[in-house]
Parts: sequence; C-alpha cells; structure tokens
Amino acid sequence: MTQRISKTALFFFVLLIAFSACKKDEVIPDTDPVVIVEPPVTPPIEPLKHIPPSIQRDGDPEAGFNYLVYGDYLDSGAPYDLYLNYAGTGSNRLNRTGDNANIKYTHTAVDAPNGVRVVTSNCLVCHSQKINGEVVIGLGNAIEDYTQNQAGTVTLVDQTIKALYGPNSPEWEAYEPYSRGLQAVADHVVTDVKGVSPADKLAVTLSAYINKHDLTWLGQQQLPIPDEVIPADVPAWWLLKKKNAMFSTGVGRGDFARVMIASNGLTVSDSTKAREIDNNFDDVLAYIFSLQAPKYPKEIDPNRVAIGQELFNIKCATCHGTYGVDESYPNLLVSLDEVGTDPLLTRSNFSYAFFVDWYNTSWFSKGANAAYLKPESGYMAPPLDGIWATAPYFHNGSVPTLEDVLNSENRPEKWKRSYGTSAADYDTEKVGWIYTEETVSGSKIVYDSTLPGYGNQGHTYGDDLTDEERTNLIEYLKTL
Ligand code: HEC
Ligand code: HEC
Repeated sequence: MTQRISKTALFFFVLLIAFSACKKDEVIPDTDPVVIVEPPVTPPIEPLKHIPPSIQRDGDPEAGFNYLVYGDYLDSGAPYDLYLNYAGTGSNRLNRTGDNANIKYTHTAVDAPNGVRVVTSNCLVCHSQKINGEVVIGLGNAIEDYTQNQAGTVTLVDQTIKALYGPNSPEWEAYEPYSRGLQAVADHVVTDVKGVSPADKLAVTLSAYINKHDLTWLGQQQLPIPDEVIPADVPAWWLLKKKNAMFSTGVGRGDFARVMIASNGLTVSDSTKAREIDNNFDDVLAYIFSLQAPKYPKEIDPNRVAIGQELFNIKCATCHGTYGVDESYPNLLVSLDEVGTDPLLTRSNFSYAFFVDWYNTSWFSKGANAAYLKPESGYMAPPLDGIWATAPYFHNGSVPTLEDVLNSENRPEKWKRSYGTSAADYDTEKVGWIYTEETVSGSKIVYDSTLPGYGNQGHTYGDDLTDEERTNLIEYLKTL
C-alpha cells in the first residue's frame, strides 16, 4: 500500500460517519406530508428571550467518560489491524488501556455487531483540540478540514478492504455501514473553508435516509437535501451545563442526552441500538456537565481586570451573565434583528422545516426523555467561560480574535491563520488566532466572510469602547 493511500485513509477515518446508503436523488414521499417553507419565514421574537430549563437526567460522569472513549455508539469501521497499519499508533493522551492504548484519542476500537474488532471515530474528533500544545477535551475543533469531497477516498478504502479481506468477509460486513454512510453524505458536507464544521448539514442529510419511527436505513432519499453547507464553529462542551437550549441557535430542546444521539446517529442501525446508546448518554451528559473551562495560561494584569469587569457588568452582562462568586447566566436567545450576526444558520431552522418536522415526529421526540427542535429566529448569547481558548468567534467562526469581536469595523473581511495550535500561533493581545488579512479569496485556508453563511457582521456592542477600555475588557475576558 502506498503512502498516498495511507494519508487519504487517515483523513477518511478522521472525517467520521457511517450509515448505509445509496446515492439516489429520487425523492419518495414519507408517510406524513412534507412541508417545505420557501422562502424561509422567520417570525420575529422579542430582542431578548429567556429560554426556560428543561429536565435533564442524572448520570455518572466517570461512566460517561468511559463510554465516550471506549463505547460502541459508533459500531462500524475499518478492521483494527488495518487501521494500525495505515494510520499508525497514535499518542495515548487519555491513558486508555487495551487495544485503545495504541490509537489516537479521537478514535475508538470497538466490536462491530458481528464481532469483528474495528476502529471508528468518536465525539472527540470534533469536540477536542489542542491549544498551547495541550489537548483540551471539550474544546471545539476549529482545525479540521472538511473542504474536500471524500467520496473518492472512501472508494479507495473500500477497494483496499475488499482486496485484503474479500468482499464477503466479516471484515467487509463490519465496515460496510461506515462506508455507505460516508458515501451518502460525502457530496453534502463539503465546506468552503478549512476549520468550520458541516455537522448541522450532516444531521439534515442523514435524516433524509432514515425511517423516523424505528431509525432503520431506508436506502432511498425521502426528504430534500439542501445545497448549501452552512458553517458552524463547534461550541465548547463546558458551557452546556449553564445552557437551557443546545446549539448556537438554541434549537435543541428537551432531554439533552437524547439530542446528542443525533450527533452520532451515523451508525445506529435501529431504535434498539439507539435505546442502548440513550441509556448510556445520561452518563455522557453528566461527564460533559462536569467539564471546566481551561485557565488562561499567561499572566493577567489585575488592575486592568478590575476596570474591565466593571465595563463588562455594564455593557455585556445583561446578555452574557456574570462570573465568579454568585455567577449568573440569563439564558437569552437574542433575536437576529438585535444581534445582527450572519442570518443563514438560524434561518435554516425555518427553511428546513421538513427536517424539523422529521425530528419532532421521530423516535427522538417520543417517550419520557423526549427531545425536540424549536426554531426561533436568533442566537443564544453564549456563556463566556474559557472564551480565551475558543477562537475563532461567533457561531460560524468568522472572527479571529476577541479584539475584532469588540470592534466590528476592524474585522478582517478575508483572513488566514496557520491552523497551528501552539503558543506561537496564538495572539495574547488581541486574544485569539494570529492572522493575516488577505485580499484574494478562493483558497480553502482563507476565511472569506463574503461567502453566504460566513458573514462577520453584527454584534456591535463593543464598537463605542475606547482602545483603552477594550484592552481592559479583554483582560477581564481572559479570567473567565
Ligand atoms: C462532525 C463534528 C461533530 C461530531 C462528530 C460531534 N459533534 Fe457535537 N457538535 C458539533 C457542532 C458543529 C456543534 C454545534 C452545532 C450548532 O451550534 O449549530 C455541536 C454541538 C454539540 C453539543 C451542544 C453544545 C452546546 O453548547 O449547545 C453537544 C452537547 C454535542 N455536540 C455533543 C456531541 C457528542 C456527545 C458527540 C458524539 C456522540 C458529538 N457531539 C459529535 C460537531 C460535532
Ligand atoms: C444584546 C445581547 C448581547 C450583548 C449586550 C453582548 N453580547 Fe456578546 N453575544 C451575543 C450573542 C447573541 C452572541 C452570539 C452571536 C453569534 O454567534 O452569532 C454573542 C457572542 C459573543 C462572543 C463570541 C462567543 C463565541 O463563543 O464565539 C463574545 C466574545 C461576546 N459576545 C462578547 C461580548 C462582550 C464582551 C460584550 C460587551 C461589550 C457583549 N458580548 C455584549 C449577545 C450579546
């Protein structure tokens, strides 16, 4: 096997996914009529809308961590030996034991339903990242590259596995759902720029192929799949414990553990498997709730912090809450008209009414621990714990530093970063990624805020600050 295959195969494994699929464009009607709202109707909400809490299940954080990094919530993938041959051994940062000790922490060795030991990806592919050379679990991955269509790569890996093990082998059987799933979504999850995530589109695409009642694969596309891929910046997990609604649009409601199953719905063969996962995800949620934001690693000027905190409490706390002793978080969904950031993601909750309808009448929305989607036109004002570590900013990762968040005039229209995560890639003054402004777009490593969904407008709440005030405020933000 050539080095080329090894590289592409590795990338393929990193991309995740699985579900069986065929690539048919024919749209067959679901049992319920599909209503497509076109053009998007986005009913106005009040500028600041409080989102009330919903009941969450209790769980055991330690069991949750174990399930997260050993569990078979994805249970299809490449044969273990083959994976080791191609991808090599990864650094064992989680101190995992057994054959998981040998592989990268973003992947897990599990038994496929037919007993073959396979390697598949886990949630940490998207929900961990290095900063200052340290892996931080729960930090959203803003480095991953989804700009290439993976269909060709998957075909290459398919051929390799068939050639090595045979098309009727148990190894092929254990791998096939992963492959078919990737083939189904490959065309639909390609982003324009490296570092943003197509995860929302992934969920929409998969739902087009899944029976909503028993979660079996239909083999035929039953719902429309929109063309656009709206970019998302993966939110930090440690914020979730404060939030009453999931996702930047606040669309995820009800039982969070149940909502999370959709994130890995990729190899769920049916609702029996989904129930098994559901029974473990209360623990995963408890683990996510137990995470704390990483501390800012450099020195902080206490005088500036004190002044910055006062400013923050006057200008920002209404929406983002207060921090430290007696902290508070208001759980406000801020209307699109008020915040003015890129509209596409929140609008998609309305223009993809068929998806919302699918979800809200599906297995996910049934029973005691029901989840549901509630589209509202706006974005959650997120908690700002650990904000220093989570650049780039806004729901689409359009703004590279905190200073630019707080000075909308200065935001770079097109910008490029190294995609490195060491101290040398990080700007301690502007707080965020070191970047250069670019004039030419079209490159996958230049963030182009003129692209649909990639806009960097709005949130002008820091514009009238003096430079001195902004510096003080940023110093305070480092302490959160
Ligand atoms: C392909 C990347 C990807 C994978 C894999 C993935 N997620 Fe996510 N996750 C995202 C993105 C992107 C968002 C934000 C979407 C948005 O806000 O619209 C998100 C949001 C979330 C949130 C909500 C956070 C918040 O503050 O609202 C939770 C919780 C979560 N994911 C858990 C999981 C779990 C558990 C898994 C594994 C079973 C998982 N995710 C797998 C990309 C991913
Ligand atoms: C009227 C409500 C409101 C006010 C006031 C406000 N914000 Fe925000 N803020 C938001 C919303 C909503 C978002 C999410 C926007 C998006 O992602 O599209 C946000 C996002 C942010 C982000 C990016 C978060 C991330 O994880 O990407 C930062 C940083 C931030 N605000 C800081 C501030 C500071 C500092 C102030 C005070 C100068 C402030 N905000 C005032 C509503 C507000």
